[in-house]
Amino acid sequence: MGDSSEARRLVDAIIANLPEPAPGQRPVHTIGVGVDGYFMASDVARNYCIAEHFKGQRIRVSVRFSNGQGGPKQHDGWSDVRGMATRFHLQDGTAADLIATTLAEFFARNVEDFFEFTKVARPQPVQRESPWRKILDMLQLKEPARDPYPKQTTSDGAGILSYANQHRFAQLAVFEAGVIGAPVSYARAAYHAIHTFMVEDPHGVRRPVRFSWQPVAGVRTTDPTATPVDKYLRHELEERLRRWPARFMLMMTIGEAGDALDDPTKPWPARRVRVVMGTLTLTNLAKDQVADGERISFNPWRLVPGIEPSGDPILHARRCAYEVSREMRDGCPFRWS
Ligand code: HEM
Repeated sequence: MGDSSEARRLVDAIIANLPEPAPGQRPVHTIGVGVDGYFMASDVARNYCIAEHFKGQRIRVSVRFSNGQGGPKQHDGWSDVRGMATRFHLQDGTAADLIATTLAEFFARNVEDFFEFTKVARPQPVQRESPWRKILDMLQLKEPARDPYPKQTTSDGAGILSYANQHRFAQLAVFEAGVIGAPVSYARAAYHAIHTFMVEDPHGVRRPVRFSWQPVAGVRTTDPTATPVDKYLRHELEERLRRWPARFMLMMTIGEAGDALDDPTKPWPARRVRVVMGTLTLTNLAKDQVADGERISFNPWRLVPGIEPSGDPILHARRCAYEVSREMRDGCPFRWS
């Protein structure tokens, strides 16, 4: 499990890449919005997992949607990974977190990869590659750089592409990130918790699983050729929720023998059993955006009996890194209970 000095180095490595410092705020996923809602487990969920929130009663949730970029500038219309961090508030006063992004795989297998990646992922002034350069890249079986979005001024694309060209394990995530675009709404993106977790059923059987949120309204991105709007996601969500709640299905994919359990860069085969574990209903933006958006501190290790972490080294490193980041920005203290 990651220690606090390693965690500090991880957070410092992220901060070193920020185009602009954002003191007192998250070093990544800086811009976000807190939302209130509730979760109802499906009838079958309790057969697969004994955790409190899968027993069937209505569970209050707090969600924070975010843009992946670090720094105080809000660029909703840029192509970027988005985050969805969910806290299930359980009846006995404990809580469980599920942190997910629009990437289905990660670009690093372990902490060493992550450090190497952050060194090359420094944002540079954006440069449009010439058509000849693109053809040359393709002839060399390299991924050519994508054109910047209109009005986009910086990108970490060049360093990341060369990293992916040299490290096969990073290619899937880097490719996904390259074509990810901007969602028309936070409620119209699918979010993946990426890591494997172990869940326990009422008979004591433990299964490796991966969780993801599927939007009931469907996935939709903006037109990449249109001039992007800097700020629309919070307002869109507010308007949407004023008319009707937004819903997500919690899907749980069950791993089988031979599936990668400790490597977040590796997808599982498409034909795995997927169970609908429940429905999340989002009702309104949180009234107190400071407490329930900015100061709230999520952690993928805030788990409850019935769900355990796998041995994934990235998942282990995140436990302390999020705590260090929380301390640095003075978020709400981590409570294990
Ligand atoms: C070694 C790998 C990683 C490191 C060092 C890292 C680091 C961080 C840090 C420092 C924060 C800010 C935490 C805070 O101040 O509360 C953060 C936020 C976040 N990370 Fe990671 N992260 C890693 C991997 C991942 C992965 C694999 C995912 C995908 C599931 C992810 C999704 C998110 C999301 C969605 C947030 C925003 C959470 C919120 O709204 O509070 N991260 N990350």
